[in-house]
Amino acid sequence: MSSITVTPRTPAIGAKIAGIDLSEPLTAENRAAIQDAFDSYRLLIFRDQYLTVDQHVAFSENFGRLEIFPDPKDMADGHKTVLRVTNIDRATNKLKPVDDPGHKSFTLGTSDWHIDSSFRTLPSKASMLYGIEMPADGGDTMFADTTLAYDALSGTRRKELEELVVIHDFEETRRRHGLPPRPPEVQAATPPARQPLVAQRDHDRRALFIGSHTAGIDGMDDAEGRALLDELKEFATQPQFTYRHQWQSGDMVMFDNICVMHRAMPYDLSGSRRLLHRTTVAGEAPLQAVQSA
Ligand code: SIN
Repeated sequence: MSSITVTPRTPAIGAKIAGIDLSEPLTAENRAAIQDAFDSYRLLIFRDQYLTVDQHVAFSENFGRLEIFPDPKDMADGHKTVLRVTNIDRATNKLKPVDDPGHKSFTLGTSDWHIDSSFRTLPSKASMLYGIEMPADGGDTMFADTTLAYDALSGTRRKELEELVVIHDFEETRRRHGLPPRPPEVQAATPPARQPLVAQRDHDRRALFIGSHTAGIDGMDDAEGRALLDELKEFATQPQFTYRHQWQSGDMVMFDNICVMHRAMPYDLSGSRRLLHRTTVAGEAPLQAVQSA
């Protein structure tokens, strides 16, 4: 029997999970119970977990193959599958200069509502974000559930959106923040991807697959496509669809990467330390468009 208790947050996204120590290998029952809760609530909050990097990886691997982060300076303790989300320089343990180009682009990029890796042909399935060092003020993470937003659209609106295809392009986020383009060979590794605007999240649920990497809509001119994407983002990030996580060290937040947008909230980048580790479960198949009746 599973040891966990699941307390849904209502009416919005997510559930709190208690009764489990994630540093221990998961039993088959607890793994299945976590997967069930994840399928039902799309975002799970575990408090008071004290994990080594290996334990974070072992927990995450219960849910699939992990994505690799190629840049050694972004990796936690040399683990290719663990991304440091931080303003702390790994080599010096000091705060990074605010205008360091890599740091600046990551900070600007994650401050917008986004879905990790939405620009990949195979979008990621889930991310596990683990809080290690947190600023006293700010640095929360906001999450928005786009299945709830989709459910709240009128039937006519859903029908209008159902067949649209959106271009997701990592370069778009950079352009929007006035950052220079990446070298052509780096861009070539992640060319723009075409994704259904309305994705079939599972048998029962549909989601708006949007976020800051969206660059336009197939068949619409730029202004019209941008206006629709902006309107949907505004709609999907209303308070009734969102959750603001105020981090404590030892928090693990596991969230669906198909239907949960997220963004980092501001904090004093040049005066406070913030360190999270992120693992991301790789996608196995392209997104499913809506299967019309
Ligand atoms: C991320 O988008 O990967 C990080 C979000 C955060 O820093 O809160």
